[in-house]
Amino acid sequence: MHNKYHNYFLNTYSKYPISVDRASGCFIYSGKKKYLDMISGIGVMVLGHSVPELLTALRKQIKLYLHVSNLLYDKSQIKFGEEFLKTLQKKYKIFLSNSGAEAIEASIKFSRLFFQGKKMNFLCFVGAFHGRTTGALSATWKEEFKKPFYPLLEGFNFVNYGDLEAVEAELKTGKYAAVIVEPIQGESGVITPPKEFLKELANLCKRTETLLVVDEIQTGVGKTGKFWCFEWDGIFPDILTSSKAIGGGLPLGVTAVSEEISECVKPGLHASTFGGNPLSCVAGTYVISRVRREKFLREVAVKGNYLAKKIKEEIGFGVDGKGLMLGITLGDENNLKKKPTDINQFLIERGIIANVLKSYKGDIRIRILPPLVIQKKEIDLFLDVLWDLKKNL
Ligand SMILES: Cc1ncc(COP(=O)(O)O)c(C=O)c1O
Repeated sequence: MHNKYHNYFLNTYSKYPISVDRASGCFIYSGKKKYLDMISGIGVMVLGHSVPELLTALRKQIKLYLHVSNLLYDKSQIKFGEEFLKTLQKKYKIFLSNSGAEAIEASIKFSRLFFQGKKMNFLCFVGAFHGRTTGALSATWKEEFKKPFYPLLEGFNFVNYGDLEAVEAELKTGKYAAVIVEPIQGESGVITPPKEFLKELANLCKRTETLLVVDEIQTGVGKTGKFWCFEWDGIFPDILTSSKAIGGGLPLGVTAVSEEISECVKPGLHASTFGGNPLSCVAGTYVISRVRREKFLREVAVKGNYLAKKIKEEIGFGVDGKGLMLGITLGDENNLKKKPTDINQFLIERGIIANVLKSYKGDIRIRILPPLVIQKKEIDLFLDVLWDLKKNL
């Protein structure tokens, strides 16, 4: 089975040795084995797998139509737009695409459009990840991802994540259309910036008439205990990008722009054949309606605090992140007996799917993005495995 895959597909992914039969709630089933999905399809399945009401809503849509094109008005899109905009306390308009990278591409285009060629550059951060298409890759930090594909887009510069002085010095040059930032860096291993960073960054952007693009593709949709992570800082982005969980398990990208920016966008300037397809919109509407509830978000924060406290105070690993978006810091590679791949294998053997990596800060981290519906008994199951890991590190 695994050999067949490698015969058919390009070698772009380092895969885990698990063939999926089915998935339900927080678990993935493979033959007789059962795995606790602590990464939820990389931050997608926030309500867990195979949610009955969601599947019912999708079946209903399948019977009506699958695709009609963006030439027509699709009722599922309108419902999605209505529900999405309820998550924001300011007026925005949205463009729908199919992925995170596309949501970022649109944010780059709309930023440049807004300044009509007067400001073309983008300021990004060390450690940033915004996707693999050439525009999104230009805003991504890791040289290893970019080098084989040069030249990428011009005008993307990087400063240290959290370094407001460096941001100010760059923005003062007046050449930047926008700053693109993740409120917590996800792919880099769940790295939280210094307190108030986002707030100060928003102030600097305002003072220098630079747009602030907040990439919530990974942090958004309840993972940190608020619907959007930027809400913790009480700011409003000029442009917000969302994907992953916002489509409820189906492909969906959202680029939300402020009212002022929306006025620059005219027919023909941007488009996508599948962008906002009816099934993704139905699933997305369902996800938002559940995650937006105050009680749901409060529980995410409570469960996240419980998990982080146990890891820090009882097991003795470090914890980065917020809510249920956590990076468990195991320490420096040189002080550990196991390599990241061995730790990953250890977790898989004990029935845990997570993501172990070496962060650009140099430490080894277990990145977890569990379904937000995870229950205490499942969290405790994960904690038992971490205890076991601690003894074997
Ligand atoms: C913050 C962030 N932006 C953009 C992307 C790209 O999303 P996609 O893989 O859907 O293109 C990701 C994916 O991991 C991400 O975490």
